[in-house]
This record gives sequence, C-alpha cells and structure tokens, in this order.
Amino acid sequence: MVQYSNELKEEIRSANDIVEVISQYVVLKRSGRNYFGLCPFHNEKSPSFSVSPDRQYFHCFGCHKGGDVFTFISEIEKVSFKESVEILAERANIQLPTTQNEAFNAKQYLKDRMFKINIETAMFYHERLYKPLAKIAQDYVKQRKMDNNTLKSFKIGYSGEYNELYKMLKAKGFKDEEILATGLVNKNDRGEFIDRFRRRLMFPIMTVNGKVVAFGGRRLDNNEKMAKYINSNENLIYSKKKHLFALNIAKQSNEKKLILVEGYMDAISLHQRGVHNVVASLGTALTEEQGRLLARYAEQVILSYDSDGAGQEAILRALEILNKLGCDARVIQMEGAKDPDEYIIKYGSGRFKLLVDNAISLVEFRIKMLKNKYNLENATDKVKFLKEITKILAQVENKIEREIYIEKVAEKYNISKEAIYAEVNKLAYSKAPSKEILNRKINSSVIKTEEISEAIIKREKMILYLLINNYDEAFEKITKEITEEDFKVEINKKIFKAIVDAKDANKDNILSIVSNIEDQDLQAHISEIMVTDYEITSVEKCIEDIIIIYNKERLNNRKMEIIKKLDNTEKLTEEEIAKLETELNNIIIELAKKK
Ligand code: UTP
Ligand code: MN
Repeated sequence: MVQYSNELKEEIRSANDIVEVISQYVVLKRSGRNYFGLCPFHNEKSPSFSVSPDRQYFHCFGCHKGGDVFTFISEIEKVSFKESVEILAERANIQLPTTQNEAFNAKQYLKDRMFKINIETAMFYHERLYKPLAKIAQDYVKQRKMDNNTLKSFKIGYSGEYNELYKMLKAKGFKDEEILATGLVNKNDRGEFIDRFRRRLMFPIMTVNGKVVAFGGRRLDNNEKMAKYINSNENLIYSKKKHLFALNIAKQSNEKKLILVEGYMDAISLHQRGVHNVVASLGTALTEEQGRLLARYAEQVILSYDSDGAGQEAILRALEILNKLGCDARVIQMEGAKDPDEYIIKYGSGRFKLLVDNAISLVEFRIKMLKNKYNLENATDKVKFLKEITKILAQVENKIEREIYIEKVAEKYNISKEAIYAEVNKLAYSKAPSKEILNRKINSSVIKTEEISEAIIKREKMILYLLINNYDEAFEKITKEITEEDFKVEINKKIFKAIVDAKDANKDNILSIVSNIEDQDLQAHISEIMVTDYEITSVEKCIEDIIIIYNKERLNNRKMEIIKKLDNTEKLTEEEIAKLETELNNIIIELAKKK
C-alpha cells in the first residue's frame, strides 16, 4: 500500500484545524485553554470530551478515545487512517500526488463528473419549465402559488419525456457510466437508457455550499398509483441522511434559529412568505448526521412537522437527537392546517412566526403527550399523571430550568407546586450513580496496576509531555538519566521507547512520529497527555526536578538493597562487605546532598 510522506501528512494536518474539523460533528464550547463537548463516541450527558487547540489533540476522559485530527476522522467516519488523510486533504484542497492512489483519483474524477452532470441536469430541467411544452407544470406551480422568484432561487424545474435528459447529457460529452452513476438515467433490460424522472416537478437538492447532489420529483397529477415523490438514489456523492433540503439557502439568513419541516413544499412555501431560515429533512426521520448539520448552523432548532404526519414518536426522537448535540430543540404546536405550507397560506407569516416563538421544549412536549393519555378530571388519573411528570421533571439537570418547568406545569394543569416539588425532589436525590460514572471508574483503573501510585503515573506522563513538546531541550537531558526500565506504566514505557527509538527526530516532527504509532490505546493515551494542562513555568527546572526524583529513587533502591545484603553477611567476604559499606556511605552522602 502506498504511504503518504510525513511532510505531506504534516501539511494536511496543519491545514485542518482540529477545533474546526471537530466542530462539524460536535458542539464545542471554550473553557480555559481547551474546548469541551459531548463525546461523539459514547453516550454521555455531561461533557468529558476535550479538544486542545494548542496541541491539536482531542481526548475523551469518559471513554478514553483520543488522538489527532486524522484519528478523529477515521473514528467518526469509520474509515482507515489513510482514507482520513484523503478526506482531510480534500477538505483543505490539498492535491495528493497522483501516482500515489490511482483508485482514489479515479473516484475523485468520477465524483467531479457527477457534480457536473447534476448541475447540467438542474439547468436543463429549470429552463424546460419555462418552455411552452411545460404548460402542465406551469399551471401546477401557479395552483401551488409559487412565484417566479421562488422558482429561480430553488432552481425548480420540469423533467422531460422518455430519454430527453440522457440525450442532452450525451450531447454534452458525458459517458454512459458517468451518467448511470448519478442514477438520473437507468438502463433497462433491453439496454435502453431511460430517464429516472419524467414529467415531474423537479426540486434540486443541494449541499450546504450549493452544489447539486440529487433531485426530488413530484408527480403533477393525482394519480395515486404513482409515488407522489421520487428521489435520487443514494450514490457516490449523495447520501440522503447527510443532507438537508434548502440548507444552502437557510444558512444565508444568518439566524441562530433554524426551522425544520418535513416537505420540500413546506420549505419552499415558508421561504417565499418571508420565513427564510427553513430546511426540510428528506422524507426520513431526522438522522444524527442531519442533526449535526443543524447544530452546526443553529443554536436553536424548531420542528414544524405535519400535524398528522411523522407522529409523536418521530418528533420525540428528533428532539432527543438535537438535545444530545447541544441544540436547544423545540416543537411547534400547529392547529387548523395539516402542514406548515397550508398554515402559512391560510394564516400568513405573522401568525406562523408566533407559532415559532411559542414552540415548546422536549420536556413540555413529553408532558403534553402524557396528558393525552390521562383524563385529568379523574382523581386517580391525576395522581398517576403527577407521578409520571415528576419522572420527566426529575431528569432536568439544570435546577433553574427545572423550577421554571415546575411553575409552568403547576399552572397549566392545575396541580399544586408543592406536590410536584416534593415528588421531584424525592426522585432527583435518590438517583443511583449513573452507569456512565461507573464505567468511567472502571476505565481509568485499566491503566493502573495496584501498586503504581498516582504520583508515579503523573510523573511519567509529565516526562512524555516534556519530550513531545520540548523535544530539543529535553531529549538529551532526560534520556541521559532516565531509561525505559524506570517506567512503571506499560503504555508510558511504550511511548517513551518509541520516542527514544525515533531516528532523526527533532522538535518539529516528534509529534508526528508519535502520532503515527498505529496503536489506538497508545493514541488515546498520548492525546490525554496532550490535552492535560501541566502548568509548567520553567521547562528546565521541571526537567531537573524530575531527574532528581528519579536519581533519588534509584539511590534509595540501591540503599535498601545494600542494607538487605549487609543484614546477611555470612555469604560475603570481608572485602565485599567493605565495598558495600563504602558504597552505602556514598549513597547516604549523595542523598543528603539532594535534600
Ligand atoms: P409530504 O407528502 O408532506 O410532501 O411529504 P410535501 O412536500 O408537503 O408535498 P405536497 O405539499 O403534498 O405537494 C414530505 C416529504 O417526504 C418525502 C418528500 O421529501 C416530501 O417532501 N416524500 C413524500 C417522498 O420522498 N416520497 C413520497 O412519496 C412522499
Ligand atoms: Mn404538503
């Protein structure tokens, strides 16, 4: 397998700031020198995932995953180290040497052609909508009250008959295999090429940056036998779980809020009526990937699902996904219309915006769902209801937030505040330690064996930290006095050995040498060392102190050894005894000097 050179990897690493890269997946908040967030690799409620911008390392103190930007990408995208290099090279627009990976280059080329086909297709459909033969589509658009601005900004179009698209693409010089790869044209049993979308109103689906990657096509008649929408298949450049319709437009509104709707038509209709911060999930339940995209562009996400549609469970799930990603997620309560499109046409944008302002949180939504299960006129039901809502309220970790909810609920459902408080407190304080905390304890004890003390562990890590960060200053001094054998923790020993073994190392490449050790536990351990703040004021003094500790320890050990031997003089000659005594005296003097 071809390897990329260390220099190239370094170039790619430094072109991809770890905080920026990780922010695409995790909501990070700065605290002191590091950033913190909820770990994407395990389930947790309080952030133990730390990213160091100075060191360009991440580490989770909960699940102990960690490493550099390449490790992060290979873990989160579940790809090899090499592929992570390729992904990050692409992200930073760094050209990888062509001879190094032909398969990768061929794939890049095909992707590029597919993007070109998609944009040509979008233009073809869009222009076709304005032609006389598209009268049926023009009528439909009118009936749905879409204005010309909307048609233009969403590049809405009308697809052709039989194989019109195929012929156009061939005429533009695209190859069959490139066209087939997009799924916009299929080959049938008889070897004929037939357009996937025919006589449908076309909605291009674009990336955040406005590149067309797929299409949705709506039928224009009411023929229930045909699917209302058909969409592009998943392919090399399109995965529906990773995209959101209209995000490229919505992000330009620069609002901290994004409204999430279900349908293409909902997004388009709201947009046309002055609500610009709308995106649509692509006919799927909200995925985690889509959640991350939303969290990246919005602090608050407002769900505006069809009133009959997705169902309560889908809404709950979406709210949970978004909350987990650190997003304040709320849901609109809509009455009098089946979906946001119908609502805004019927009641106008002012009233729709009111709905947005009054959207409710996950906790309120769960309570509201519960309420539907009980008849609050009935006393037993009301007691049960109280029990159930307290369970929900007790899970709210923030005390102030919890109090606000309790006040609201008490008023709304006419239950005494005190009764709710009493129940909630009972639950909140009887909580057993969470699984997470227990796991954390087990995990951190993996590294230690009983007899190795915290102090030793910390000291060893400090040595590694100094070697990696102050290589030129520390290497000679430390390796002269401290050897592999001095390390008690196996993993520290391994890293130390790797540093000592690295030929031609210097302060600029030591980090990459260490990072290239392909051992996950090791990487996690290194990242932990790198994100820890050791508060070293003088490197020189620090090295000196550590060396002194080790020398003292060595002398002490030797002292104990000699004392033991001298306890048992029968086996020794006079000469040996004299020698040991002199050594012991010297050691005692040495130790005294070091105090
Ligand atoms: P809707 O049926 O609510 O569609 O489905 P809509 O966008 O509001 O369209 P109109 O108002 O009925 O014309 C919501 C979304 O689910 C996906 C589409 O993404 C659609 O926008 N969907 C729906 C499909 O992919 N296929 C279907 O057959 C139906
Ligand atoms: Mn609709």
